[in-house]
Amino acid sequence: MKNIVILISGTGSNMAAIVQAAEKDSWEKSLGVRVAAVISNKQNASGLSWLHANTNSSKIHTEVLEHTQFATREAFDAALMSRIDEHAPDLVVLAGFMRILTPAFVTHYAGRLINIHPSLLPAFAGLNTHQRAIDAGCKFAGATVHQVTSELDHGQILAQAVVPVLQGDTAEALAARVLTQEHLIYPAAVAAFFKP
Ligand code: GRF
Repeated sequence: MKNIVILISGTGSNMAAIVQAAEKDSWEKSLGVRVAAVISNKQNASGLSWLHANTNSSKIHTEVLEHTQFATREAFDAALMSRIDEHAPDLVVLAGFMRILTPAFVTHYAGRLINIHPSLLPAFAGLNTHQRAIDAGCKFAGATVHQVTSELDHGQILAQAVVPVLQGDTAEALAARVLTQEHLIYPAAVAAFFKP
């Protein structure tokens, strides 16, 4: 059995979409892969409560590793790597994991570390993507699943979804429209990663 480890910091709706797809499409049988663990750097991440309420919690290991407990970014990432590696991951999925990763972390998981970013990369790497797309007068926005490399939001593109930017859109309205698409393309991209 192959293993996926998902990292979250907050709502974890993309994590939930992946866990639900794994269940619904029987990834264990069809792809030989399971979500082994979900790790959060925040104790109060509501994604963890969702998991406990909506899944057989004995099947997916959950864990909190607070970055505030570590003196340096390097020390946190080293501890996180050791927690992740307990699950022998074939794929590490960043799902709203709000941390800048050290080169050591990115190198360690090269080729098996993916992220979803709420813009049509290479446009709007970084934060505040929706407001920036609105301010730029974009007619379309979207989301991108990509490999993670040492350059922020720049790895190989694995999947994208496009949504229209509507007249009078707020960043919140656009974010919600994009998020519905994220929930479709992220599970699909994870499944595609394991398809022969
Ligand atoms: C998503 O918009 C994702 O693209 C970005 O952070 C947000 C996370 O949302 N990286 P959720 O925690 O998956 O609900």
